[in-house]
Amino acid sequence: MCGIVGYFGDKTAKNFLVDGLSKLEYRGYDSAGIAVVNEGKVNIVKHKGRLANLTENLDGNKAEGTVGIGHTRWATHGEPSDINSHPHQSSKGDITVVHNGIIENYLELRQWLKGQGYEFISQTDTEVIPNLIHYYYKGDLFQAVVKATERLEGSYALGVISGQEPDKLVAVRKDSPLIVGLGQGETFIASDIPAIISYTRDIYLLEDREFVVITKDGAKILSGDGTEIKKDVFKVTWNEDAAEKGGYDSFMLKEINEQPKAIKDTLASRLSMNNDINFEDFKLSKEDLDKIDRIFIVACGTAYNAGLMGSVAIEKLAKIPVVVDIASEFRYKDPLVTNKSLVITLSQSGETADTLAVLRDCKKVGARTLAITNVVGSSISREADNVIYTMAGPEIAVASTKAYTTQVVVMYLMAMYFSELRGLMTKELDKELREALLLVPEKVQIILDKANEIEETANLLANEKDVFYLGRGADYALCIEASLKLKEISYIHSEAYAGGELKHGTIALIEKGTKVIALLTQRSLREKMISNIVEVKARGAEVIGIAYENDVLDESIFDKVIRIPELYNLVSPIVAIIALQLLAYYTAKNKGCDIDKPRNLAKSVTVE
Ligand code: F6R
Repeated sequence: MCGIVGYFGDKTAKNFLVDGLSKLEYRGYDSAGIAVVNEGKVNIVKHKGRLANLTENLDGNKAEGTVGIGHTRWATHGEPSDINSHPHQSSKGDITVVHNGIIENYLELRQWLKGQGYEFISQTDTEVIPNLIHYYYKGDLFQAVVKATERLEGSYALGVISGQEPDKLVAVRKDSPLIVGLGQGETFIASDIPAIISYTRDIYLLEDREFVVITKDGAKILSGDGTEIKKDVFKVTWNEDAAEKGGYDSFMLKEINEQPKAIKDTLASRLSMNNDINFEDFKLSKEDLDKIDRIFIVACGTAYNAGLMGSVAIEKLAKIPVVVDIASEFRYKDPLVTNKSLVITLSQSGETADTLAVLRDCKKVGARTLAITNVVGSSISREADNVIYTMAGPEIAVASTKAYTTQVVVMYLMAMYFSELRGLMTKELDKELREALLLVPEKVQIILDKANEIEETANLLANEKDVFYLGRGADYALCIEASLKLKEISYIHSEAYAGGELKHGTIALIEKGTKVIALLTQRSLREKMISNIVEVKARGAEVIGIAYENDVLDESIFDKVIRIPELYNLVSPIVAIIALQLLAYYTAKNKGCDIDKPRNLAKSVTVE
């Protein structure tokens, strides 16, 4: 949700700024801008639209200089426009700011600043920040940023420059991510690692209200009272290729294809046929587990959908009651969390504002908190009592794929681990589950090898306005994710329905030609699902089935069947989702959608 970058060094700042922003475009792409200090003057270039609009208009003379900041925007306050684009500057001077976050008291501050003679030209909340900093500026940019941010309510990651102190860049964060990259003779700031990975692997992870003052002597981390904070350098270990498409049309297709490896890597250190499941990073005794009377899984979007899958496995295998909820709802409903609760937060970014808020609230009431994420060093991973990292690696495409499947895999392993601790796991079931999970990477590859067939099937959906997904049990949880995937990248309205629920109202929408995608991976519910398929077929629906290779079906009730390999049924949805991700992908591709940058979306939702 907005990406910010900053550069201080001996090279032309704009080169890094533009390159860094190109790696952060997944965070927002309504507009982009940079500001560079040159000979004591701040020059700003900013444009509505994609980063390409900015680069096409980068006039060499205007944006030269070795200190600068940049921004790619996901609009919150005010439409995408040149004026609303960042950087923003004070109306009384050249204090210039890029901001990621939301200032909740901006109207009140704007009113007050107007009374002090400041003028406003944009509709943004951000514009109050450079003006406030200017108001407090008495020759020390750091001090002014400290004072100004004391008056801000909400979330912010800021990069600040001024022609009055041309050899300084000041940055700070609160509830929005920000890292500092330490290069050779150059220092970077960025909202996320992909922006700086090709420049340095040494970074500082900032905590809330830690200020960075960057000068030719490097980066100093200070608290608000000016005390220097000594920080350990964090070494980024992931591969630079993760931030590149590597020959694929899109990051999404690349990440879909990375799933066999991501799942294999996630399983590797934890599961084998003979050893105990390894949860060293979340080791519980039977007594610890017995103290937990309820598990809450809280997350947003696809991560919430992964939580739904996890709850099915935990309740089935470990028989512990699980509540799965959407973070933005959960935080405002006085949830029944106590010191006997285990609260699991799932997040691919590790920065989602609502999920982070839930984690903090639950810690306050003494609940044990666990984060499942793929981003080492992210806020959620740092603040939870325990963290389990999936091995998905960074996910760049806005539509989450490998983060989802690896989160589901971790929760399945956890369900088995809990079940074993509680003495509920039988030898036979344990063997069956282990075999099935270890086979998932190979079975996923079988689906990936069918991409052409799935692409053909996607032709059936491209012109649709509405699509329905039907499933029961674990397949219903899967339908919810499949439906979200289709919506977000192809803009086709879709709904996920529990097979038996359709006739309680929504079947009224089924008419001749309505596309229904029906999942049949749960053998014990197969006959019930077939009845539901017959019901929609009788009303004219065209049905695409997702069924096992060896399932003998009455083909007359299907218009097309995508066959998938059979696995132990609880595990099968992890394989089936690959077909549904590809179906969504090719549908969007057929429609000519910009798959990695779906409209109105951003990868990391760091505002409420
Ligand atoms: C959809 C998608 C989103 C995210 C959601 C939570 O494909 O990616 O629904 O899952 O915004 O984000 P994280 O996982 O970063 O907390």
